[in-house]
Amino acid sequence: MPTILAIESSCDETAAAVVCDRQILSSVVSSQIKTHALYGGVVPEIAARQHVETINPAIAQAYRESGKTWAEIDGIAVTTAPGLIGSLMIGVTAAKTLAMLHRKPLIAVHHLEGHICSALLAEPTLEPPFLCLLVSGGHSSIILVKDYTDYRVMGKTRDDAAGEAFDKVARLLGLGYPGGPAIDQIAKMGDAKAYKLPQGRIPDFPYDSSFSGLKTAVLRLTQKLSPNGEALPIADIAASFQETVAIALANRTIKCAIEHHLSTIVAVGGVAANSALRSRLLASAEEHHIRAIFPPLSLCTDNAAMIGCAGAIHFARGETSSMSIATRSRLNL
Ligand code: KG4
Ligand code: ZN
Repeated sequence: MPTILAIESSCDETAAAVVCDRQILSSVVSSQIKTHALYGGVVPEIAARQHVETINPAIAQAYRESGKTWAEIDGIAVTTAPGLIGSLMIGVTAAKTLAMLHRKPLIAVHHLEGHICSALLAEPTLEPPFLCLLVSGGHSSIILVKDYTDYRVMGKTRDDAAGEAFDKVARLLGLGYPGGPAIDQIAKMGDAKAYKLPQGRIPDFPYDSSFSGLKTAVLRLTQKLSPNGEALPIADIAASFQETVAIALANRTIKCAIEHHLSTIVAVGGVAANSALRSRLLASAEEHHIRAIFPPLSLCTDNAAMIGCAGAIHFARGETSSMSIATRSRLNL
C-alpha cells in the first residue's frame, strides 16, 4: 500500500495531504475564499501569489501530522492540469523540488481524476464501475468510471459549469460569493415551485447540460418582477433556480446510470454539497435501486487527499511522471 504526499493548488485552495492507499493520514487545506470574496470571484494573480505564501507551511503541516518520515513516503503526487496556470505552477514547482530533494518519484494527477477519487476515500468498499456526477465551480460532467484510471465522459456542460451558474445567479440576486452556499441557505425559506425555469436540455445529447440559458432566464425574471427596482422575492427565485438545477442534474445522472446498467452513483465537487441536489439524487436513486454515495463536504471541495488517492493508484501501476512534466490550464480527462 503506497504512502503518497500530495499537493493541490489548481484554483484558490492551497492543499497538502499524506494518504496511505485509501486512508487519509493528514489533510491540510488553506482556503483563499475570503480574499477572493472581496472581488466577487477568483482573481488568478492573487491566487498564485497566495499559494506562494501558504504552500510550504501546508506541506510541512501535512508531513508533520501524518506521523510518517520521508523514508516511508513512496511518491509525490501533484495536480498538473487543468486549472489556473499560475496557481498550478506553484504546486508543481513545490512537488518537483520535494521529489528531487528526497529522491521520490513524481506522479502527475488530473484534477478531475482527483475529484472522482474523493469517492474512493469516502467509501473504501467502492469499486468501479460506477457513475460519477462531478459538479464544481469549473466543471459539470457525468463520468463513467469503467475501471481505475479508465474514464469515459458521458455528459458535460456546453457553457457554464453548475457552480459557475450558482455563483452568477447569486450575484444577480445580490447574494455573496461563493454563491452556492448562499443560494442553498436562502432557498430553504423559498417556494421551489414559484417560477418555472428552463432545464437546459440539449437535443440528442441527453446527458449534456447548458446553464447559460437558465442564468439568462433568471435575469429576465428579475427584470420582469422588478422593472423599477422593487424588492425581489429572492428566496423564491433562489429556490426555483436551485430546484431546476437539481432536477436537471439528477434526472440526467440517473438516466445515464440506468441506460448503462450501473448500480452505483457518486456525486462529487463543491456543488455536490447542495441540499436540493442531494435529496433529488437520493430519492431518484432509491426509486431505481441505485446506491448513491455523497462524500463529506471536506472531500467534495478541493483538497489534496483526493489527489493523493489518485496518485496512489497510478503509483501502484508503475505510472510515474517525468520531472519535466508541464502544467496545462486545459486538459481532457
Ligand atoms: O469543487 P469546488 O470547491 O471548487 C472547484 O471549482 O474546483 O467548487 C466550488 C463551487 C462554487 O461555485 C460554489 O458556489 C459551489 O461549488 N458550491 C455550492 C454549494 N457549496 C459550494 N453550490 C451549490 N450548493 C452548495 N451548497
Ligand atoms: Zn475542483
